[in-house]
Amino acid sequence: MELESLITILGSGGIVTDPSLNSAYTVDWTRRYSGNTPAVLLPKTTEQVSQVVKWCYKNSVALVPQGGNTGMVGGATPVNGELVLSLKRMTDIEEVDDATGQIVTQAGTTLGDVQQAASRHGWKYPVDLSARDSASIGGTIATNAGGSQVLRYGNTREQILGLEAVSGTGDVIGDLRGLSKDNTGYHLPGLLCGSEGTLAVVTKARLRLVKPPKEELSILLGFRSLIEALSIVEEIRKSLEDVQACEVFFQNGLDLVCEKFEIAPPWNAHLGAYLLVDIGGQIGLEERISNSPLSAFLNTSNFVAYGSDNLSRKKLWQYRDLHTEAISAAGVPHKLDVSLPHGKLNEFCNDVQEIINTIDNETQLFLFGHAGDGNIHVNVLGPSPEDLEIDTAVLKYVASLGGSISAEHGIGRAKAHHLNLNRTTQEIDIFREIKAAFDPAGILNPGTIFPQ
Ligand code: FAD
Ligand code: MLT
Ligand code: ZN
Repeated sequence: MELESLITILGSGGIVTDPSLNSAYTVDWTRRYSGNTPAVLLPKTTEQVSQVVKWCYKNSVALVPQGGNTGMVGGATPVNGELVLSLKRMTDIEEVDDATGQIVTQAGTTLGDVQQAASRHGWKYPVDLSARDSASIGGTIATNAGGSQVLRYGNTREQILGLEAVSGTGDVIGDLRGLSKDNTGYHLPGLLCGSEGTLAVVTKARLRLVKPPKEELSILLGFRSLIEALSIVEEIRKSLEDVQACEVFFQNGLDLVCEKFEIAPPWNAHLGAYLLVDIGGQIGLEERISNSPLSAFLNTSNFVAYGSDNLSRKKLWQYRDLHTEAISAAGVPHKLDVSLPHGKLNEFCNDVQEIINTIDNETQLFLFGHAGDGNIHVNVLGPSPEDLEIDTAVLKYVASLGGSISAEHGIGRAKAHHLNLNRTTQEIDIFREIKAAFDPAGILNPGTIFPQ
């Protein structure tokens, strides 16, 4: 491939062609997907992104936008030898507006840096996930990332006040004005959010910030069964307005985390389910909790642990947050991120093992996730990376229960063949037409969302 023009646009420091240096960009976080690339492109400005995409459009060269490469569905991997357009060097935070609680940043800034910048100004950016120090704002927008605080603040889409992006023709689109009211036609940020790099490259965003809680408390709860845990989830949602997160995990995941990271378990017991609940709000949390219907359970259970300062809260959160790393250390997982309608979570979690066993009874299954959102991460170790049989069976089961085959990670390449389980042919045709309008040459992330 003739790369001279790209070197002219980006400078020699903005392009990496040595395969020994670009391997970090060609394998996905889970190691299930890998590829190769003639070059990793590292622009610093929107203008450079625009010129690169214009060149790719003119020369019909495909490219894969990439942020922190922490995605879980292979959407940022150049599996067919595409160029990688990494936003890693676009990390300027251009403005934190104290008065309105808004932040403007380039898309390559990590989620963690945005959270810290907000915090320095007395605000909070309310999307949080444990890959915060690697995941980019552009990646969280492209996947409409969820995370642990969706219950309280919504997904990434709810935080976006304005976007700047480069379409598949290289045109710069969108705006960063952040108007509270603006009903001028179709809502571009809403459409680009969750589009997984298939419509445009997000280059900048204006995001809303919220007031941080004055006091925070984490509570780890152990239960004999999932159904018991889910009844407490219902109670929490009904009676605690300060709840920020309500996460679930199970004994085998906890055991794996404790073994891999050599940490002591919370209790010497074998339990049916665990909930990690985060509460944050005005001073007086403990009093409000003890006046709530939850207090009966909290006062009588033997399996309750509180974390009220940063260190003790972190200690409780590690049991949940380290699941992803512990599972990946044990193998290359098939990650199926699904959500179930209200009332179906227990049935799903109880039956999914049996569905997997009918195909292969030697796999290992780890379930965990965001109980407050009905979102369970199904991790299967055992099948080879390209084997889709178990994925298909589980996702069909999810669809039959009325759930979503992708709650927060996106479709990427992993679920492109399964999109029809949740979307009609007519809907997929409309999706394709939308893609063609933004990306007429089909150069942006081919094979993601739509199978190639
Ligand atoms: P990448 O992996 O680089 O890319 C992801 C997708 O976005 C690809 O399709 C890519 O082409 C596209 N893309 C990236 N940047 C841009 C851009 N600027 N413009 C257009 N398209 C772009 N996800 C959750 O939703 N909730 C969680 O709780 C969560 N926890 C995680 C925990 C761990 C330990 C890990 C490793 C991952 C977790 N994830 C979670 C998944 C992942 O962090 C998110 O999907 C995140 O949004 C990806 O950001 P990224 O910058 O790494 O994107
Ligand atoms: C999480 O909630 O920890 C993530 O979405 C990552 C994963 O599914 O492993
Ligand atoms: Zn998650």
